[in-house]
Order: sequence, then C-alpha cells, then structure tokens
Amino acid sequence: MQTLFITGGNRGIGLELVKQSLQNNDVVLCTFRGDTTPDLPLTQEERGRLTWLQLDVTNETDLARLPALLVNQPIDVLINNAGVIGPDNQSYNDMDTQGWLHTFEVNTIAPLMVTNALLNNLRLSDAPRVVTVSSQMGALHRESTGMIAYRSSKAAVNKVMQLLSLELKAQQIVVCPVHPGWVKTDMGGSEADITAEQSASGILALARRLTMEDSGKFYTWEGKEHVW
Ligand SMILES: NC(=O)c1ccc[n+]([C@@H]2O[C@H](COP(=O)([O-])OP(=O)(O)OC[C@H]3O[C@@H](n4cnc5c(N)ncnc54)[C@H](OP(=O)(O)O)[C@@H]3O)[C@@H](O)[C@H]2O)c1
Repeated sequence: MQTLFITGGNRGIGLELVKQSLQNNDVVLCTFRGDTTPDLPLTQEERGRLTWLQLDVTNETDLARLPALLVNQPIDVLINNAGVIGPDNQSYNDMDTQGWLHTFEVNTIAPLMVTNALLNNLRLSDAPRVVTVSSQMGALHRESTGMIAYRSSKAAVNKVMQLLSLELKAQQIVVCPVHPGWVKTDMGGSEADITAEQSASGILALARRLTMEDSGKFYTWEGKEHVW
C-alpha cells in the first residue's frame, strides 16, 4: 500500500488515476476545484482510503494551506496531473498572451509549486517519487506547428522537472516527467489513440517501479524512455 497525491483528480486521466489507485489498495489524496467531487461507486473501505482536497494549483492561498492539512502525512507518489490546453488563439501570428501566461501558470509553474508545498510529506516516504504529466507536444526533437502556448508550457515543465531531479537528488526524491499518450478525455478528444484507463494504468505501473536510477528521465505512459 502506498499513498498518492493526485492533482486534477476529478476528471480525465486524473480521475482514472484515482480509481485505479483505489483498486490497487493505495491511499489516495486527490484534488479538485469548485464545489462538487465526482460521485464514484466505491465500497466503504475504498471511501476510507480516499480524501478530496480543494486545490486550484495556481492559487497561492490553497497551496499555503496544504502543509497544515497534511501534517505527518507521508506521500509516496505525487502525480502533477492538472493541466490545461491553453487559449483558443495560440498560433505564432494570433496569440492570446494572457491565455499563454495562464497556460504556463498551470502547466509549468504549478507542478513545481505543488511539489514544494508537499516536500515535507514526500520526505516522510521511504521511496518518494514525483511524476509530472507532461506531453510529447513539448518534446524539442519533434517538429510540428501550432499550439504554441501548450507546447512551450510542456517543453518548459520538462526542463523544470529535469532541474528538480538534480535539486532533489541528495534527498533521494525521484522526479520524472511522463507523456501520457494521446488520450480520450475532454482535452484529448474522442479521436485520441488510447483510453484514460490505459494511460492511467501505464502511468501507475511506471510510478510504482521508478527508482533514483530513473530520476531526471522523460518517460512514456508505456514506461519507455522518451526523447527530450
Ligand atoms: N488528453 C491527452 O491526450 C493528453 C496528452 C498529453 C498530455 N496530457 C496532459 O495530461 C494531463 C491531464 O489531461 P486530461 O486529458 O485528463 O485533461 P482534462 O480531461 O481536460 O482534465 C484536466 C484536469 O486538470 C484540472 N485543472 C485544470 N486547471 C487546474 C487548476 N488551475 N487547478 C487545479 N486543477 C486544474 C481540471 O480540473 P477542472 O475540472 O476543475 O477544470 C481537470 O481535473 C494534463 O496535464 C494534460 O496536459 C493530456
């Protein structure tokens, strides 16, 4: 049994990560925004292992509240999953710059700030791991056009996670960004390659086996190393 902290657990890949972690007998702390959490058909025992926390990952007040809510709570795996696709207008010659900034706040800056807010909890684990859901759309070796806000935010979070892996090496905290596949969710759309169930299952299998040897590498949801 391990304890996972999953951001954006109310829908899409995050919700699947929550469901499958509960099926794996893990303890799940997961976050949502707004007033309602999904109505999941859970057993009493599963409900006992699930805690919903209100968190807008860009909100400093929400983040500052976390340590007090989680005193002495070990976290084995933090999954920075919450993300946005960015503004409607994000081409080189038609850019919504406020939307671009917001995309960076959620996709790039928040994963670092959430990790910082939970560092004491991660330190309480015997094998702490930080998995940040990035995207191959941020991989520098791929040449493709459009979606500049989204692509640049994911390229940047890859670099942030590589840096963080070095910063946290001495504390034996594993840090890896992961590409979740092209996934059938609100973000990925119905034409995507794989289901949220497949993606979440791969991400959780990867998270389970990560060691310090793997820290600082970029992975696919299938557990293979991804080219940066
Ligand atoms: N789907 C794909 O094909 C694909 C491909 C590559 C990478 N990804 C990445 O995978 C992750 C999950 O994507 P998804 O497909 O599951 O997307 P999704 O269905 O659109 O869900 C996004 C999740 O992020 C949460 N979120 C957004 N902004 C937030 C904020 N400021 N604070 C807290 N939570 C916030 C949403 O919460 P609300 O419900 O409150 O909005 C929701 O739970 C993202 O990082 C995405 O970039 C997805």
